[in-house]
Amino acid sequence: MTVQSIFSQLTKEEDDPIIKTMQEYTRDPNPGKIDVSIGVQKDKSGKCYEYRSIAEAKHILAENDPGHNYTSMAGIGDFVSGAQRLIFGDDILAERGSNIASIQAISGTGSLHIAMLFYKTIGLTEYYIGVPTWQNYGPMVKHIGGETHYYSYYDESTKSVDFKSILATLNSVPVHSVFLFQTCCHNPTGSDFTHAQWQEISNIMKQRRLIPIFDTAYQGLGSGDLDADAWPIRYFFNQGFEFAVCQSFSKNMGLYSERVGCVHVVLQDSGYLPAVQSNLVALFRKECSFAPAFGARLAAIILNNAKLEERWRCEVKETTLRLKYLRKRVLDKLTELKTPGNWTNVVEQNGLFWFSGLTSEQNSKLIKKHVYSTSMGRVNISGLNERNIDHFCRAIDEVVREE
Ligand SMILES: Cc1ncc(COP(=O)(O)O)c(C=O)c1O
Repeated sequence: MTVQSIFSQLTKEEDDPIIKTMQEYTRDPNPGKIDVSIGVQKDKSGKCYEYRSIAEAKHILAENDPGHNYTSMAGIGDFVSGAQRLIFGDDILAERGSNIASIQAISGTGSLHIAMLFYKTIGLTEYYIGVPTWQNYGPMVKHIGGETHYYSYYDESTKSVDFKSILATLNSVPVHSVFLFQTCCHNPTGSDFTHAQWQEISNIMKQRRLIPIFDTAYQGLGSGDLDADAWPIRYFFNQGFEFAVCQSFSKNMGLYSERVGCVHVVLQDSGYLPAVQSNLVALFRKECSFAPAFGARLAAIILNNAKLEERWRCEVKETTLRLKYLRKRVLDKLTELKTPGNWTNVVEQNGLFWFSGLTSEQNSKLIKKHVYSTSMGRVNISGLNERNIDHFCRAIDEVVREE
């Protein structure tokens, strides 16, 4: 390239490795190929799971077409209030609802972005993040001009949370350091803190004046109960913390492409509500102006209709039970095949992902057997079904024995 260009300083950005895997999967002509890579919930036939309650909400919306006018700067009111209730629960809202500022934002990613920008405006830029983790956090912190510090989240030897490392980090960082936590169904490890561990974390954070930020992208898909999965957030609220929550409806309503989410900011003195709320709105105005309406309207219909909400909650439970059933099937099959190694973590972990412990090399060998997982060993359990689960387990068995 010899022509002088204003773009000459740019180099090509790397694709997300998962995109490459998806392209290879699409090109593979084998009818028995299995996709357990990208983090979307699949149904029994391997298609993206579509919630029946969302189909019903679409129907209701079509019959009550609100048109396409601008909505409000803070988002669709009924959606934001429903989203608040889902996260904080009726009790907190009844007693201290005026201690929560909330706006609609662009799903989980956009909510995180607005929360990070908001934290920056109040001087919070140092982020502590346990790894492995969702790969977008680091680049997102860098993008807003913050600094990321990593600690170990997962102990390969015990195949569970590396709690010692977290405690050591909490005990050594400066005041007002930000800890970015996933509330449940940790991506990619499927390993979450226990209540006792959250309590210990909270004690140290309170004593050392550290700041949490919660990313909740899988509420309901851990335990099957949306309220139970919100426990850490409600606990930190009741412990008197000030913090942001970044909420996504991509997974628990299957609204991936509609970009439905909210940012909530908890303040201890409701006198600050007008300042916090208006700052969130002003930030969003500069970034996006208005949030997209269609998906949020569907979510609002569900969250403001008791019967439909109950049906949606049942569906969340149903899909979670299916994940648990598939995990058990994997363990049973690997046990039957006497696959070398300890595979019990498949039933101990939560949510969509199984952090299998398979290496990048083993993953490449799996691809040759038409099983498309991720190089870090993260398996999307919902991609398994009656037709492919035996092939999946046999492929793992063969790859492990090839060592
Ligand atoms: C842990 C975590 N946080 C946030 C997100 C962002 O989700 P979205 O922006 O699609 O709502 C994801 C998506 O996979 C995730 O796994």
